[in-house]
Amino acid sequence: MTLLHSSSLLLHLVALALWLGGIAFFLIVFGPAVHELKPGLGLKLLNRGRITFEAVSWAAIGLLILTGIVNLVLRDQMTGGHLGQYYLTILSVKLLLFLAMLVHHALGVFKYGPKIVVLMNETAGTTESWPEPLRTHWQKWFMLLKINAALGPIVTLLGLALVKR
Ligand code: HEM
Repeated sequence: MTLLHSSSLLLHLVALALWLGGIAFFLIVFGPAVHELKPGLGLKLLNRGRITFEAVSWAAIGLLILTGIVNLVLRDQMTGGHLGQYYLTILSVKLLLFLAMLVHHALGVFKYGPKIVVLMNETAGTTESWPEPLRTHWQKWFMLLKINAALGPIVTLLGLALVKR
């Protein structure tokens, strides 16, 4: 394996750690911690965390796609264009699941994110509860994150299956 190939694989792993690690941190650490705070402050911090998480995720997704394409081109060269049925099948399933994760992320950013911002602006900073429909929109945003948290490890295993070939 060339230095370029192993560097691209390493960057690929860094990118997935950034995205999947961010999802895990948000679900296991940040989300529960924010719920311990007063709703007004909690909502503000959660939204600030969402904006940062989404920005970091876009950077990781871009790096995954870039290094993924480089991985594929170099593997294709390595095999003289004979990737084989097994490799192509695994890669197809992996990219389909990646696409599903991308759609979930985009829904969170472009569908629920803007609604959360509008409703946050209508919510007093001193609110004593998580008002509806803001709570529902956060629940839907978190549901998409949980689905991606379930898909991430599957895509990772499929990626490992590619390299083992
Ligand atoms: C959530 C998204 C993704 C995850 C979790 C993921 C995970 C992985 C993992 C763990 C590996 C093995 C790395 C190693 O053992 O060094 C891998 C390899 C690979 N990934 Fe991904 N990947 C993702 C997205 C993508 C995308 C978007 C593409 C294509 C555009 C891609 C193409 C590849 C290829 C071609 C390989 C095999 C490289 C080789 O044959 O040497 N991956 N991926």
